[in-house]
Amino acid sequence: MDGHANPAGAADVEAYRKESQERQAKNPVKRLHHHAYLARDMEETRHFYEDILGFPLVGTWIERFNPVTNQPDNYMHTFFELGDGSCLAFFQFKNKAYNDEIALGQFNNNNPFSHHIALEVDGMESLEGIKKRLKDAGVEYVDTDHGFCYSIYFFDPNGMQVEIATNVEATEEMFANAGPAALETMRTWLATEDMATNNEKRAKEGWVKGK
Ligand SMILES: [Fe+2]
Repeated sequence: MDGHANPAGAADVEAYRKESQERQAKNPVKRLHHHAYLARDMEETRHFYEDILGFPLVGTWIERFNPVTNQPDNYMHTFFELGDGSCLAFFQFKNKAYNDEIALGQFNNNNPFSHHIALEVDGMESLEGIKKRLKDAGVEYVDTDHGFCYSIYFFDPNGMQVEIATNVEATEEMFANAGPAALETMRTWLATEDMATNNEKRAKEGWVKGK
């Protein structure tokens, strides 16, 4: 995108891109290593992530000590790989009552605002590919146009909400504009009753659902 084509007052996208790359290069944390969640049923979870979504199972670790309770235990920890080498990981305890009590008691009623995991694909074509996999498997999803990205949301067999998002043409320009103002925006929202939304379309029409 040509920075000079931006409307007056808009950020220079090229400059922001360079600044972002330099900022990220300085961060010692290079990517997500893994994100872990409890599985109700590991075979069902494996089917969902490996067979439907295409994330390969690359490791299963059997553990005999629970660092939370500080007691001997028996559980497994599986790793499903994403394109950058990071993983979605899942636990299952041998003690079914304990596993199900936690899974059913705490995760079934999880509010998506409390927790969801968002994964990135590279472009709408890739997102359409994921949608086809879900559709073919009979998994329901919803589309949402966030303006700064485009997402779909669905639930895995454990009740965890998964978002898959792609950046869009406007993403860099929106971040280039929003980035320098992010701290002020955060503090203004905290200090005032109301302020303008970053997404005018959504403010008027609600969450924008696609197909
Ligand atoms: Fe999200």
